[in-house]
Amino acid sequence: MEIQWKTASLGSWEADGIVFLAFEKPALLPSGLGRWVEQQARWLRDLLDLDDFQGKHQQVAAYYAPPGGRIPRVVCVGLGPEAKLDLFKLRSAVAAGLRKCREMKLRRVAFPLMALEGLPFLPQTALRESLLGGLSGLYRYTGFKTRDLNGEEFPELLVLTTETDPGDSLRDEVEACRALMAGVALARDLASAPANEATPSHLVAAARRLSDAYGFKLHVMDVEEARNLGMGAFAAVAQGSREPAYLIVLEHAPPGTESDRPLVFVGKGITFDTGGISLKPGDKMEAMKHDMAGAAAVLGAFEVLGRESIPRRVIGIMPCTENMPDGKAYKPGDVVRSLSGLTIEVISTDAEGRMVLCDALTYSQRFDPCAIVDLATLTGACVVALGHHFAGILGNREGFVRAVQDIGWEVGDRVWPLPLYDFYFEGIKSDVADFKNVGDRSGGAIVGGIFLQQFIPDTIPWIHLDIAGTAWTTKDLIAIPQGATGFGVRILVELARRWHAIAVE
Ligand code: BES
Ligand code: ZN
Ligand code: ZN
Repeated sequence: MEIQWKTASLGSWEADGIVFLAFEKPALLPSGLGRWVEQQARWLRDLLDLDDFQGKHQQVAAYYAPPGGRIPRVVCVGLGPEAKLDLFKLRSAVAAGLRKCREMKLRRVAFPLMALEGLPFLPQTALRESLLGGLSGLYRYTGFKTRDLNGEEFPELLVLTTETDPGDSLRDEVEACRALMAGVALARDLASAPANEATPSHLVAAARRLSDAYGFKLHVMDVEEARNLGMGAFAAVAQGSREPAYLIVLEHAPPGTESDRPLVFVGKGITFDTGGISLKPGDKMEAMKHDMAGAAAVLGAFEVLGRESIPRRVIGIMPCTENMPDGKAYKPGDVVRSLSGLTIEVISTDAEGRMVLCDALTYSQRFDPCAIVDLATLTGACVVALGHHFAGILGNREGFVRAVQDIGWEVGDRVWPLPLYDFYFEGIKSDVADFKNVGDRSGGAIVGGIFLQQFIPDTIPWIHLDIAGTAWTTKDLIAIPQGATGFGVRILVELARRWHAIAVE
């Protein structure tokens, strides 16, 4: 969907339909809608008085104007009670409205800036989050659809109508939205793609495209090079797969930032997780194609960093491989030596995420990072603990955790802290190696975090996001269609944007 601005007097706006937002009765009309109804659509006043549309959150009603007007349809979307409106509700309301426009096959849809008047947000925020909600809700993964698609897109065009020039800051928001949505869509496309397409080589190709488009430095390490460097844990997981495995290193260092300490984003890139020799049950195993959603989020964030030329040095590290059972696969009981020198006793080959991440985390320290953030679909235990609404966040600085939690809330990627205390290490003590890769089932998400922490010096602020429950949705969430969610992209981008303002001791 294209987005355009159109500045003209109210009476001369033209479109196949116009989208308005309304609070739940009795406070039905936010100021913009009221003004428009008074001046342009008095007929609508009576219809809104009928009780068909109460403005309940995500409720949508389409009204048809008397013949002769320039805008034949009005799509009203409910925001719910005024006092309960937040950005999550705003995003999904706009998504519901634009999906209705798609269903009605409207090509040109007007979204008047005045529809946002009277909402309890800054105009920039209201516009940005409305547009992102709409774009995000219209997203579809169509990589393998050959039927039922005729190339037509509804809506084709969203016209942001205003009476006076919107000014640069609002215009800039539209650009920022396009960039953010491109990043989120890239992450979703990659994670929704089946594992026979989205192989480690495919992720390399995606990284290469980004590097060509935006001038990122790219280093693609194959598994031989990784093993020779000493990445025994990453290599152990990769040895069971016939798909070539790679560690991808992308660097965004705009002019003037080349010698800054970088932010490092590390993403788990298991393109399919069978569990390996500790084979997973067959039921729902197909979902494990999205076990590279951490890497996809990092690539998505780089799409935005590049498009927006965000002035911060950022390095993305993605260890990418399948986790397969095979004659050569690593086995429970094996002891592997990680890049850090620490040895790991493999108890479950299904705890492969931490195996590939630990070497990536150690490798990241070569860049003298100012902070490290890793994202991984790491544990089913995190899904048990938090469900699908919040990702787990663990880290070695309370203030940093809180800052990321706040950013997550603002941008719609919710994260909730889990405690990271040394006594959880007890569970992974090993008789033969420095520690094991899993303990018993208790506190699984925290133990995953404790494992990763063994590879992080205390001097480096670090955050681990366990996105196992949030990277994929089986439900259609209106602003997030069923499938890969792109979770984490916006958090990473905002972190890069605001790093200077985040006080991390
Ligand atoms: N990729 C899985 C975790 C996962 C589960 C991601 C559900 C998304 C949805 C991970 O590699 C895994 O298998 N973890 C094991 C860890 C266990 C062996 C300690 C798990 O959660 O069972
Ligand atoms: Zn696994
Ligand atoms: Zn996994």
